[in-house]
Amino acid sequence: MTSIQNIYIGKVRNSAVLDNNTRIVQTSNRISAFDFIFPFEIEKKAEILQALSVFYFQKTEHIIENNLIGCLNETHTLVKETKVFPIEIIVRGYLTGSIWRLYESKGVEGVFAEYAVTLPQGMKQNAKFPKPIITPTTKADGGHDLPISCARASEIIGKDNWDYVEKKALELFEFGSLEAQKRNLVLVDTKYEMGIFENKIILVDEVHTPDSSRYWLLNETNCMNPKQLSKEFLREELIKFLGKPEEIKGNPANHLIFQDKKVVEEISKSISDRYQELFKLFVGDISPYEISKPNLIPWPISPDAFAKSISLSLMPENILIIGNGGRDYSLFSAFAKLPEVKNVFCASGKRKWEHAKYRLCPYTNVDEIAQFASDNHIGLVVAGPELPIAQGIQAACEKHNIPVLAPSLACASLESSKIICKEIIQAAGIKTATAQIIAWNDLKKLLHEYLELNYTAQFTLPCVLKYDGLAAGKGVFVLFTKEDVYNALVSIEINLPEWEKLSAQVNTDTYSKQMKTPCFLIEETLNGEEISAIALCNGNEFRLLPMARDYKRRNDGQTGPNTGGMGSVSPVCLSEKILGQIRTTFEKTLKELSKRNTPYRGFLFAGFMVDENQEAWLLEYNCRLGDPETQVLLPGLQRDFYTELLNTAKGYSFFNPNKSGHEFNHDGLKRIFLVAASPEYPEKSAPRRELSINNFLQNSCEFIPTAIEPDCTTTGGRAFGLLASSKTFSQAQKNIYCSIENYYLKNSDGSFCKPHFRLDIGKEFCEISQGQTPLKESL
Ligand code: AMP
Ligand code: GLY
Repeated sequence: MTSIQNIYIGKVRNSAVLDNNTRIVQTSNRISAFDFIFPFEIEKKAEILQALSVFYFQKTEHIIENNLIGCLNETHTLVKETKVFPIEIIVRGYLTGSIWRLYESKGVEGVFAEYAVTLPQGMKQNAKFPKPIITPTTKADGGHDLPISCARASEIIGKDNWDYVEKKALELFEFGSLEAQKRNLVLVDTKYEMGIFENKIILVDEVHTPDSSRYWLLNETNCMNPKQLSKEFLREELIKFLGKPEEIKGNPANHLIFQDKKVVEEISKSISDRYQELFKLFVGDISPYEISKPNLIPWPISPDAFAKSISLSLMPENILIIGNGGRDYSLFSAFAKLPEVKNVFCASGKRKWEHAKYRLCPYTNVDEIAQFASDNHIGLVVAGPELPIAQGIQAACEKHNIPVLAPSLACASLESSKIICKEIIQAAGIKTATAQIIAWNDLKKLLHEYLELNYTAQFTLPCVLKYDGLAAGKGVFVLFTKEDVYNALVSIEINLPEWEKLSAQVNTDTYSKQMKTPCFLIEETLNGEEISAIALCNGNEFRLLPMARDYKRRNDGQTGPNTGGMGSVSPVCLSEKILGQIRTTFEKTLKELSKRNTPYRGFLFAGFMVDENQEAWLLEYNCRLGDPETQVLLPGLQRDFYTELLNTAKGYSFFNPNKSGHEFNHDGLKRIFLVAASPEYPEKSAPRRELSINNFLQNSCEFIPTAIEPDCTTTGGRAFGLLASSKTFSQAQKNIYCSIENYYLKNSDGSFCKPHFRLDIGKEFCEISQGQTPLKESL
């Protein structure tokens, strides 16, 4: 029996790869323009798109074979599963669009530098080329396609393949131009995708459709602004509401205008009408169904099985994220990017998170959040920080039958109690620092004695003190000197009442609660490099997110006080030996927890210290995604991450259980996140300051608000961050440090100050991109 191997959810199409080398493709009514998916759908678009694809594939079959096997119905086709070349072949007949902009600004030389194509001098906009030219681009899953020369394309896919592809592309373009002429149209430019199936090069995707091509009316070829008969018209409808693309700041799909139902109805109706007009113009007076009908073939698996698998991968329309930090904003933004998600409710307090899909959920307590989720038809709740987890959000949602990604209270003790965590780690046989439990009263005596006498038998430096309970990241003290001991003592005395209050607010068990007195660990100090490993765990199964690093100290060179994180990088490249130890650590922990009848479901964050012998020591567990690691991790993850996340939240096993233990797919880009904090951070609280952005310099980074209020002011320590994504760490670092110069904080007296940020985030990895691998070699 045929079975599904993998599910993909694309911008416009969903598909399932079957084990017999075929793929079911479902065309949806989703809409993508300017490279973004818009938060509404267009009626009848799916049928029209499929019919146009089938229509033109049939017309070009005599030139080159294509991947269409047949239609399963009006919106589903069966295609050959092809190894697609990683390039797009763009054929252009006229000087228009991006190549005109290049020609106009940089001349013949500029075009040659980018495409190695020599155009005549003095051409006018929209003029016809002497003969069609090919300008290939690379294909990027995330990010933008990059133009390349034909010679480079030939290197990428091999000369023989390229020669064939080039020849067929020109034949197709010539044929397409003649076909267009018959309908009083001009095929201006178009894109082909090809790949290998059973040792043959075939066409994939679509050909000569208005979605993949630019057409003009024949009688308008000589005018400056010919009517666009392609998906460009989507832009036109959108521009009516949003203004010109160059005037729109940020992602136009996030525009608040799309929160207005009436506007959305109006736009989608006019786009749907234009799609229907276009269909008539290209195909004639028949219905989409009449095109699919002669090509109907039986389903290889039942339509229900396909629909069910897709629905297991599709996120629910309404999602709720709890939390208001940088990590939580990244979660919000990652879910908001998914085409099928309509509303992302945020229990975030009031934050300046402007986005078409943003909806506010009041943050009160976990029972009220769960009730809100139930009242608002939320299909998935994701908890960002530890507090709602330790207050029992998992059980609260379960009561309402709402899928939730958060571990149970029993599992949350891994983070809420350092002592319970240590016991579990040791019982699981995981390598960790030795530690001794001590009650606060005894520790206090010991520390005083040490300070007075410079010595006590039970306490030697260096060592690490860890408060048993939740302490908002302030409960760990790494002690090297007598001064450190003094500072730790003062800090504990000041903060302990606050920590105890926090402990009383959460429902997790801690060792201190059992003993009815605050307790600590005195732990052996470990040396080495720190690595953050995060796994999505589902009982005994787990998948790894890429490895990351957090820069905890305030100042360059890992100096100054500990902070909530001044920056992060990912992916960190580790040796197989270290990765193996990390995997084993998760395996053993999950087994131990299952043995105790408390299986772990949710994100599990493991902090490791990797020593000079390449041994990974487990420092800590957190029951959530890391902050600021999440900011560099989520943007590169692909669909398999969301599919397994949803399955875990629903309490189902993984969709792909055989991939347990492996990393999630990733776009391969290097990411650096830089935190910008108030100058006082973390010593003193910050006064209210307004954020001011100049954009004098290039700004190629994503802005991630951490503590920016709706009036654009901040009082928070870590105010915001910038995220750079690039092919190399060096480029990402350059982008970050150039962009950050655009940001200022305005004092109440009108003067400006610069936020505090570190200058060395990602430094050691920039050396990696220049050909070295310090982590692999030095560890
Ligand atoms: P934890 O909350 O246990 O991760 O501790 C916070 C930070 O303290 C870690 O990220 C390390 O930088 C440091 N730390 C914790 N335990 C140790 C240890 N045994 N040796 C050295 N540093 C440690
Ligand atoms: N980045 C460490 C944490 O989130 O606890």
